[in-house]
Amino acid sequence: MAPFRKFGVLFLLLCFVFTVQSVDRDNFKTCEQSSFCRRCRKVEAGKSPYQLLANTVSQNYSTLFAELFNKDTGVYYVLQLTALEENTFRLHINEKNPLKPRYEVEHALQGVPNQIKLTISEKTDDHTTVTNGPSKIVIYHTPLKIDSYFGDQLVISANARGLMRFEHLRTKVEKPTEGEEGAIVEEVISEYPGDGAESDPGAWEENFKSHHDSKPNGPEAIALDFSFPGAEFAYGIPQHADSFALKSTKGIDPYRLYNLDVFEYEVNERMALYGSIPVLYAHGKELTSGVFWHNAAETWVDIRSSTDNNVVESIVNFVSGGVKKPQVDAHFISESGVIDVFFLLGPSPLDTFRQYTLLTGVTPLPQLFTLGYHQCRWNYNDEQDVIDVNRNFDQYNISMDVMWLDIEYTDNKKYFTWDSRKFSKPLEMIENLTNVGRKLVVIIDPHIKRDNGYFIHNDATDNGYYVKHADGKDYEGWCWPGSSSYLDFFSPKIRDYFGDQYGLDKFHGTTNDVYIWNDMNEPSVFNGPEITMPKDLIHYGGWEHRDVHNINGLMFTSVTYDALIKRSQGTRRPFVLTRSHFAGSQRYAAVWTGDNAAEWSHLRISYPMCLSTAVAGMSFCGADIGGFFKNPDAELFTRWNQAGVWLPFFRQHAHIETKRREPWLFDDNTTRRVRDAIALRYSYLPLWYTLFREHEIKGYPVIRPLWAHYPAEFNSFAIDDQLLVGDAILVRPVTEASVTEVTVYFPGEGKDKWYDINTMEEYSTPGNVRIPVNIDMIPVYQRSGTIVPRKMRNRRSSVAMKDDPYTLVVIGDNMKKASGTLYIDDETSFEYRQGKYIYLQLFFDGNVLSSKHIDKLNKFETKSWLERVNIVNAPQNVKSAKLVTKSGSTTLEVNFNPNNKVLTIRKPAVNMGEEWTIELIR
Ligand code: NOJ
Repeated sequence: MAPFRKFGVLFLLLCFVFTVQSVDRDNFKTCEQSSFCRRCRKVEAGKSPYQLLANTVSQNYSTLFAELFNKDTGVYYVLQLTALEENTFRLHINEKNPLKPRYEVEHALQGVPNQIKLTISEKTDDHTTVTNGPSKIVIYHTPLKIDSYFGDQLVISANARGLMRFEHLRTKVEKPTEGEEGAIVEEVISEYPGDGAESDPGAWEENFKSHHDSKPNGPEAIALDFSFPGAEFAYGIPQHADSFALKSTKGIDPYRLYNLDVFEYEVNERMALYGSIPVLYAHGKELTSGVFWHNAAETWVDIRSSTDNNVVESIVNFVSGGVKKPQVDAHFISESGVIDVFFLLGPSPLDTFRQYTLLTGVTPLPQLFTLGYHQCRWNYNDEQDVIDVNRNFDQYNISMDVMWLDIEYTDNKKYFTWDSRKFSKPLEMIENLTNVGRKLVVIIDPHIKRDNGYFIHNDATDNGYYVKHADGKDYEGWCWPGSSSYLDFFSPKIRDYFGDQYGLDKFHGTTNDVYIWNDMNEPSVFNGPEITMPKDLIHYGGWEHRDVHNINGLMFTSVTYDALIKRSQGTRRPFVLTRSHFAGSQRYAAVWTGDNAAEWSHLRISYPMCLSTAVAGMSFCGADIGGFFKNPDAELFTRWNQAGVWLPFFRQHAHIETKRREPWLFDDNTTRRVRDAIALRYSYLPLWYTLFREHEIKGYPVIRPLWAHYPAEFNSFAIDDQLLVGDAILVRPVTEASVTEVTVYFPGEGKDKWYDINTMEEYSTPGNVRIPVNIDMIPVYQRSGTIVPRKMRNRRSSVAMKDDPYTLVVIGDNMKKASGTLYIDDETSFEYRQGKYIYLQLFFDGNVLSSKHIDKLNKFETKSWLERVNIVNAPQNVKSAKLVTKSGSTTLEVNFNPNNKVLTIRKPAVNMGEEWTIELIR
């Protein structure tokens, strides 16, 4: 966030709070300024020194083992290739005899991946072939190249360009300083000459601005290239404020993955941001695949594509019969650790996304209220302010589920305390919310104020809980409370200690209706190198911060998640919002895109940013509605609310220096439009909830790029100003000022038709269509062939909607058929895991609509019933409908609206837990 130096910290803190500027690039390294990145990027293609020693190949049930040899350095490595379930392989390479252990990431995977039988089907001097179901891998021995196939199709080729580099650990050979009295000037002879690392001045120590990195392990970088023949585009590796489809980095800096607090980040940039998820997908018309680079150190990723000029070098391996195939190439470079990479061999987009979540987990079904509207700002000033805002939502008839408190609620930024003047009776304030079914979220940051009167600081100092310098001293940095230290969340003991602080017996003034926001967990250190922690600090187990930096935030949020489960004795699903994230964070928290600004470009980028995060396993993503910095005008504010409706996490938030912006503070028309937008969100909560449950079951993202469902439709591949909610809803937010028309791309090449959700007007022309827009709404469509569940009664919160009846919106396809699903449970507890839920398959065959349980457990009882069915594209001359349930049949009234051609079946009034059919009678 703000740049801080050793001196004048307070002055600079004030500058940070009160001025708005653009990102200060000088605070952040370029690849060239980062010695490992510059070394690895310099590796020349086509000269790989690594070879597999064929006579060392052996195997057990699921893993092939072999030794590698680097002919330039003489260093030996061990390669392991493991076959995993669902078309996935894991490649692991480490030094055979490292001087000391190298860091292996823990905590990102949800467990040990399920292994399956691996068969060595061919072994020659030249190559070894292994198979795993429909996929196979051919390992070429000299130079090492690892080709992954789905069927006969080459999908991923690793080290095809020969950019692999694995810097072995070595002993530092001190070089006497030239000219020093008595010094003998001699050449440095490294133990293993040949990889050139020694000649890099940043190999054994590195300076950046006023910061010194002591680098006791010297050079230890790893890098590997991946080519994806047939792929037109690559996606993933969030978090960047850039397009969803990755851009070529030829001639510019690679994408950087290093969790950082970037003050006033700019859009269309590949600079690092708060989170890093090192999974990359490549997609072409025929198939999708991915690589998950399991490494938590600073990482840079170069991208090339065959659409770049002059990529002969990258496509040379795949030119067959003179026809050039499209291809994407990626080059991953990490500062430390081992090579540990998963090949996700698809073949479809959803298969590939699922393969990633099989490894790193899914977001557990959240409580329903978390999908409602959240009202936040830095800060609601005091209890009365919270009470007033809460009341005004009712006064203005705007639905809202959650009020939020930012850092100012605490006693001087000492987390787990309250400012006793402004928040003297927090329990009463909370009751004021919960009485009307609402909740509170409060912020808990990871920095601990160094204050002798603060119990956490005293406990941490006494027990050695802080992250330390190499000499054993506690590290001190600067953050919101001033001088701060940082608990080491890698230590099980410290995790237990901190988790206990969330207990209702400890965190006074809270209840089970208070949920948690974890911010600043990159970690943000205002006076640290690149506004974060020095890399040579030491964590639990003796690991350097360098090794674990990108997973640091996950370690904090996982403590919070576990603590919230414990707090309610397992009766309530936790809700945690995190800023920093890594692979696996989806198991613990929702995420937002950090400190954006009230600018149209930031509204625009919120969709690609959340799409990237969603395909990387974290569907529960949103952006600060209205923009964090600066003040949105009424139009931008309206458009942002309308767009935010269709991102999974729906929260308004603003910087402390911005004008108040609760929806009623704008003109009446704006208030009305925001109210309508929020009401629209609530009416679709049954769809969102069903999609979140299906994400948990299947691993599919809740929001999706168009190509997830139209994988062969080239024109959809680069579209990121639209998204799909599940597979049924297509959204095109308006992200331009004062427009009366926008371009909507209708996918499906005419086979699918799209229906405006407000007018039910049909759009059957595929591809780009200019659509008129007014300020009251944005273009949103339901696909033909789908059934979408809704709840149409406008309530103050989702809790108040619990027993409300459902409306089903049925749109027949060309054959007049449609299908959909609906999931229902108690919306709060984990009892659904014991079968207390209703999961329905809805199907319309053109004449009969039916609801059947997907599995027969059906142990949940709901009071909700079916209020109406709207059938778009219904058959002509329907006079009535016949409802059949197990208790008999009833005739239902129908009503045909000639304007929008919607047939409404009124009040079937059947309980949603029953199985039923409704037949149209002509
Ligand atoms: C930074 C967060 O990104 C922002 O949302 C929050 O308001 C401030 N920290 C203060 O806590």
